[in-house]
Amino acid sequence: MRLVRTVAEVREALAGPRGRGERIGLVPTMGAFHAGHLALMRAAREASDVVAVSLFVNPSQFTNADDLARYPRDEAQDAVAADAEGVDLLFAPSVEELYPEGFATSVDPGELATVLEGAARPGHFRAVATVCTKLFSIVQPHVAWFGQKDAQQVAVVRRVVADLNLPLEIVAVPTVRDEDGLAVSSRNAFLSPDERAVSLALPRALEAGANAHRSGNDPIAAARRILEAEPGLRVDYVDLADLDGPTLLGAIRVGATRLIDNVRV
Ligand code: PAJ
Repeated sequence: MRLVRTVAEVREALAGPRGRGERIGLVPTMGAFHAGHLALMRAAREASDVVAVSLFVNPSQFTNADDLARYPRDEAQDAVAADAEGVDLLFAPSVEELYPEGFATSVDPGELATVLEGAARPGHFRAVATVCTKLFSIVQPHVAWFGQKDAQQVAVVRRVVADLNLPLEIVAVPTVRDEDGLAVSSRNAFLSPDERAVSLALPRALEAGANAHRSGNDPIAAARRILEAEPGLRVDYVDLADLDGPTLLGAIRVGATRLIDNVRV
């Protein structure tokens, strides 16, 4: 695996494979790799000739300075993990490399960016759309891989790709969960054992919502009932949205940690 830090190095590393008509897959990440990230790399590895992974903690998509400051970082360990998954190219640029002085352009994904996570985190999806557009332009992959865990993010990225006629395919990978049902996330590391037990109400509530929907009942009410019975958490939202199919989404706060999850209904 080759580790590169500049746009020029990415272009140079991929020129050969691109010229030979090889299929390039991109997995955009913010590092601190866990089983969810590895599932994306594995899916990309199976379907691509060359797998590029970007590792960039994108400051502009954090709407809270503390959240950015405490975001986990371990590039050395990430490089070992990516190498073990057969990744060919790890692109870990500096903030200055992606946002040099004078940087001013952004991609606004419109209405979809203002609801659910977008309402809770104003400006978040504009920053995600902007950095993903840059990464697509830098790497020029045939396919980019995203996790269904962030269902609204997938929908935003698909919107951008369609609206800007970007020449790549977006593939969503199913959410990877721990054995207890909690969706794997780098933020789970912040949960105490008690908080983790409380957090399990989120996947349980969404599952109950999906079951309610199957039997013709209100999925939002069913999910809310379970969350509201759990005193250790605060509900940010529970909602149903059409994100490449009807999806029940929830966001909760447990202590200082905010968790999101979703299921298809
Ligand atoms: P990050 O949170 O590092 O996630 C990188 C990718 O891993 C995203 O597509 C996310 O949906 C996926 N992922 C996270 N947890 C997952 C899980 N449990 N199962 C399956 N996939 C999972 O999402 C971002 O970074 C950033 O917003 C980014 C797209 C890189 C733009 O900065």
